[in-house]
Amino acid sequence: VRIGVLGTGTVGRTLAEKLVEVGHEVRMGSREAGNENAAEWAAAAGEAGSEGTFADAAEFGELVINATAGGASLEALRAAGAESLGGKVLVDVANPLDFSDGMPPTLTVSNDDSLGEQIQEAFPEARVVKALNTVNAAVMVAPGALDESTNLFVCGNDRAAKGQVIELLETFGWLSGDILDLGDISAARGTEMYLPLWLRMMGALETPQFNIRVVRGE
Ligand SMILES: NC(=O)c1ccc[n+]([C@@H]2O[C@H](COP(=O)([O-])OP(=O)(O)OC[C@H]3O[C@@H](n4cnc5c(N)ncnc54)[C@H](OP(=O)(O)O)[C@@H]3O)[C@@H](O)[C@H]2O)c1
Repeated sequence: VRIGVLGTGTVGRTLAEKLVEVGHEVRMGSREAGNENAAEWAAAAGEAGSEGTFADAAEFGELVINATAGGASLEALRAAGAESLGGKVLVDVANPLDFSDGMPPTLTVSNDDSLGEQIQEAFPEARVVKALNTVNAAVMVAPGALDESTNLFVCGNDRAAKGQVIELLETFGWLSGDILDLGDISAARGTEMYLPLWLRMMGALETPQFNIRVVRGE
């Protein structure tokens, strides 16, 4: 599958590397073509990797991943272009974190709205699936490196799109039984508002390499 990865940060590069490893063709997008991180990644990726603008990557991808800074995601997606996103699965891994007042960050949207919903509303033709935002980049692509199997959340309005994303996540090593479908895209409120707790756990555990496991009774 051809995949467009919007974002040149740790997440964009980690996902892009894994996607090439599992057999996809990937184009990484940035505000400007020739971004240093993107060019370095593309050179290492070989034939299956390329880079360009957000618009180039979105046009290229049959599936598109939003791995841009949450506060800038709507702007980045507008640059990617609504037409290129229409009808496509758009995996949103971004968290709406505002670091402008230092640590800890605050959320730019919360409570009765979320970045996932804002993206779905701004791009009604895109099939937005919120996923992977509750784990560190390294854990996203190597869940098996943790001592036990852990849980991941997906949500979105399009059932088939979620199914496609779950299949992709399985190729990263996630077990389908460990992926909890929380329902429509408004569930992104909860998975984004989990970030303050995630940050505190990172502090308490002194590592970002962790995840949670949900245990249910009968
Ligand atoms: N780091 C993690 O482990 C982790 C885990 C879960 C979720 N997330 C979320 O994943 C996303 C990516 O995180 P990251 O740490 O890889 O990188 P990041 O620094 O949060 O984001 C980098 C990307 O955002 C773009 N960007 C920044 N400001 C912009 C603006 N004003 N307009 C348009 N685009 C802009 C950058 O564009 P250029 O390429 O042009 O510089 C770059 O591609 C974030 O939303 C983050 O909260 C991160």
